[in-house]
Amino acid sequence: MDNTEEDQRLPHHRKPKQFVSMDKLAELGVLSWRLNADDYENDDALKKIREARGYSYMDICEVCPEKLPNYEAKIKSFFEEHLHTDEEIRYCLEGSGYFDVRDENDQWIRVAVKKGGMIVLPAGIYHRFTLDTNNYIKVHHFYPQLSLLSTSA
Ligand code: LAC
Ligand code: NI
Repeated sequence: MDNTEEDQRLPHHRKPKQFVSMDKLAELGVLSWRLNADDYENDDALKKIREARGYSYMDICEVCPEKLPNYEAKIKSFFEEHLHTDEEIRYCLEGSGYFDVRDENDQWIRVAVKKGGMIVLPAGIYHRFTLDTNNYIKVHHFYPQLSLLSTSA
């Protein structure tokens, strides 16, 4: 993406546009799937991913002023560059948004996620999130069971 100070919700394509291959994302450890968000309760594909990767826990996050307490502060903190020691696992059920990740040269790569898109950012990658100009996303957050045990031997 470009480095301009324009509204974070805009696409921020470089000029000319530059696209990143799925292979490049995979090298960075970013995984993604396209799933059927209308059938997430019975979706075998989702079930398989959760089982294979141990994503036992889930909660829902709806990003809009009515549903997200401290909306303004939250969306500000989502867009602050950060990293954590666990994966970030998000499944978009409705709406859309951008997950930005830094590549190995510290360049931001913007990943557009929309309904049906599931993305895993690896532990330890610098990232941030913003809504796009649609101003709404509903996501499932998943958590690996192991993350709860990772501080014990
Ligand atoms: C986040 C919210 C969008 O991951 O789920 O920052
Ligand atoms: Ni994060």
